[in-house]
Amino acid sequence: MDTTRKIVSLGEFIIDRQSDFKYAKGELSRLLSAIGLAARIVNKEIRRAGLADILGDYGSTNVQGEQVKKLDIYANEHFIKALKDRGEVCAIASEENDNLVEFHGEYCRDGKYVVAMDPLDGSSNIDVNVSVGTIFSIYRRKSDNPANPDNFMQPGYEQVAAGYVIYGSSTMMVYSTGNGVNGFTLDESIGAFFLSHPDMQMPKNGRIYSINEGNYVHFPQGVKDYIKWCQVEDKETNRPFTSRYIGSAVADFHRNLIKGGIFIYPATAPAPRGKLRLLFECNPLAFLAEQAGGRATDGFKRILGIQPTELHQRTPLFIGSEDMVKKAEEFMNKYAEVEA
Ligand code: AHG
Ligand code: MN
Ligand code: MN
Repeated sequence: MDTTRKIVSLGEFIIDRQSDFKYAKGELSRLLSAIGLAARIVNKEIRRAGLADILGDYGSTNVQGEQVKKLDIYANEHFIKALKDRGEVCAIASEENDNLVEFHGEYCRDGKYVVAMDPLDGSSNIDVNVSVGTIFSIYRRKSDNPANPDNFMQPGYEQVAAGYVIYGSSTMMVYSTGNGVNGFTLDESIGAFFLSHPDMQMPKNGRIYSINEGNYVHFPQGVKDYIKWCQVEDKETNRPFTSRYIGSAVADFHRNLIKGGIFIYPATAPAPRGKLRLLFECNPLAFLAEQAGGRATDGFKRILGIQPTELHQRTPLFIGSEDMVKKAEEFMNKYAEVEA
């Protein structure tokens, strides 16, 4: 046992860091701890997912004749409830809801914040026991009216905090309030998150590329060329690189954050704006990447600089180790005029 390392719980850490915010009165701390609570509730349900056939399949009717909720709906409801109960958030935009969820009265005292989230990322991996996650993004609200979508039409650099929970071989919460990135691992027996990965830094370079290569035929020429470059043998740059693709953006990002690597979800011929959502997936992950010394662009420009125009807007995403993302951009830029 390393007795020189202090045991710090997520709760303590949030309170200790409150002084980072000049004008904070504890609202953001309360909000972050609500996310920690919802994460533990959702974690408990995800850990039982393998028993679905015995206890009632998700989306089916159980032995009591009740409808068993799909886990993405379950996660959505629990994150919304935990945030609503704390009263610091006046509206939530979720991948699972077409429209904003807004709070009034006691549920929105003077709720300074709004939250955008993907309650369950990688949900197709649930049935096969592969890591999934929850992604969240917190902004200061802009309008007196919680229902005003302008509250969410802020570029990603305006995020006050962002993070994710990864339900993997262990459950971790990784977040940033704009002052570095810290990771906390859940001790399920105690029911508390503990600081396990302080001040996470994304390696400047790496040798993992992560992309759904099945869509190769639909990729822009720049992406095709970059992939081919990754596969060429070259001792100096440690190529060929290795390919890893989980299909949960959170899990692919988390691995690359620790080991170094690039994750790409490009525009494709059938989906010219890409697949991933700017507000729910790309902005929060881009905020974390930059805070950890990495880089996130749409192949040409910074993700955090994009002005959103709609809640469910999509964007291509190139994210990860700084040098790898820059290299991929070089290939994209060769065809910039053609594709602009
Ligand atoms: P979600 O489960 O929230 O819909 O997100 C799935 C996303 C992302 O997590 C993942 O990287 C990507 O979709 C996988 O898409 P493909 O199957 O097209 O590769
Ligand atoms: Mn997702
Ligand atoms: Mn989702």
